[in-house]
Order: sequence, then C-alpha cells, then structure tokens
Amino acid sequence: MPTVPKGQRGGGTLQLADDNILNTLPRAHAVLRLALWLYGVAAASVAPSRYCTIAPSRYHGSMKALPVVVLGLKGGSGKSTLAIHLAVCSKRRVLLADTDPQATAVAWAKARESPAPAVRAVRAYELAQTLKSAAGDYELVIVDTAPRIEADVPALAGLASIIVIPIRASMPDLLASQAAFRLAEASRRPFVVVLNAVDTRTAEVGEAQALLAKHYDVAPVMLGQRIAFARALASGRAVSEFEPTGKAAEEIAGLWKYLEVKL
Ligand SMILES: Nc1ncnc2c1ncn2[C@@H]1O[C@H](COP(=O)(O)OP(=O)(O)O)[C@@H](O)[C@H]1O
Ligand SMILES: [Mg+2]
Repeated sequence: MPTVPKGQRGGGTLQLADDNILNTLPRAHAVLRLALWLYGVAAASVAPSRYCTIAPSRYHGSMKALPVVVLGLKGGSGKSTLAIHLAVCSKRRVLLADTDPQATAVAWAKARESPAPAVRAVRAYELAQTLKSAAGDYELVIVDTAPRIEADVPALAGLASIIVIPIRASMPDLLASQAAFRLAEASRRPFVVVLNAVDTRTAEVGEAQALLAKHYDVAPVMLGQRIAFARALASGRAVSEFEPTGKAAEEIAGLWKYLEVKL
C-alpha cells in the first residue's frame, strides 16, 4: 500500500498531521465568526421592519460585563429614555442599573410584563461592586444616572467602557452640556454624544450636529421628538415593542448599531 506523507494530498483525501489540524483551528474560528457576522447583516437587511432583532453575541464567553454609562447634567435630556431603550435593543444578557434616586428605570420595570432586561436600583457608590458580581451573568451593564456633578457621577463615568451623553438641540441645553463633556473628558473614557428629541425638519439640528462633531464623537443617528418614546415608557415597554415598525424603533436600532461596535 502506497504511503502518503502526512499533510499531503493522497487518494482524493487530505491527510493532515496533528499539528496541521491545530494550525487550521484559528482559521476555522475566523470563518465561523465571519459567517455569524454575515448572518447578522443578512438578518438585518431582510427584516427591515423588525428593529432591534437578535444578532449573534459578540461578547460570547466574555467574563466582563461591559458598562455603558448614560450621563448628563441636565434633567429631561433623555438619559433614562436612552438607558432603557439601549438595554432592550441590545438583546444581550443585560443588567440595567438605575443609580438615579428618581428611579425612572425601576418604575418602568414595575410597569413591564416582560422580565427582561433585569433592572436593579444601585447606589452610585455600589456600581463597582455590582460590575464585579455581574461578570459572568451579564454581558452588559447599562447605567442610568442622576443629573449631578457631585463626586458619584464622575466616579461612574470612570468605570465606563463607553459613556453616552444625550442632549437636546436647544441653545440652553447645548450650553449646559459643556459641563457633561468636561466631566466625560476628565474620566478619560470614550464618549458619544446623542442628539435627542430633535425636530429633524429644522436646519438648527443639522447645524448643532455639525458643530458638535468638530469636537466630539456625535452619533450620526439622532432621536426625533416622538410621542412613541413617552408612550412606550409609560406602558413599561420600549418603542421596538410599542411600535415595532415606527421611526422611533428604527432610530434606536440605528443608534445601538453605532454604539455596539465601540464596546
Ligand atoms: N426622543 C424623545 N421624544 C419624545 N419624548 C422624549 C424623548 N426623549 C425623552 N422624552 C421624554 O422626555 C422626558 C424626560 O426624559 P428622561 O429620559 O426621563 O430624561 P432624563 O432621564 O435625562 O431626566 C420624559 O417624559 C420622556 O418620555
Ligand atoms: Mg432619568
């Protein structure tokens, strides 16, 4: 019987030495990841009306719960709205940590029928411990914060994988947002500015975005002033559940897509 050297073709089959098999493993893994990624893109493109659909987890096997801290020093800018919607849209094993004594996210969860996402009231000084205990159980911890400049919010910022700062596009809001930008810069963590509750028909919104984008990472997706956001929150839902094919759901899905790759 003819012998075939290990690792060479023979009789139409490929005989591989053990070390060659090992060499192919990283390549197989890369191909699998590519296939999963393509699957995610294809799923998004064939189902344009179903926003925030499940995509393959990029964090599979990660032992660290990645903290996304939503902050801003102005009440009403949309921090809770964003934290809640990012938590729902991410479709990850996500813990929504509500560090604001106003407890909007906790109240939302009480009105909610679905058990996901997990929502927990956490004191700001407890967040570091919460992140440690969340590792293994959760892939993401989305942190809603109070509009305060006291020490606890800067400390929260310092723990973030990424900071998200929602602001409204009015002159007083833009002025007030400077303090939040300084806080985020001081934390040395990456941060993304999100224009929220905008009237997309006005020229000022585009101007504000262009101006901010000269200095900061501004999400290209803005959230419109849409009643669906308020109604969804009031009924313990997210816009992707309340109005799955609506504009608000589309915006949140687009925003999450922009943020997700930065984690
Ligand atoms: N894009 C939006 N469109 C319509 N209403 C919004 C939008 N974002 C926030 N709101 C509403 O504005 C109010 C304040 O939002 P909230 O997320 O609680 O702000 P914050 O947590 O920064 O104080 C809420 O009533 C919320 O429903
Ligand atoms: Mg809030």
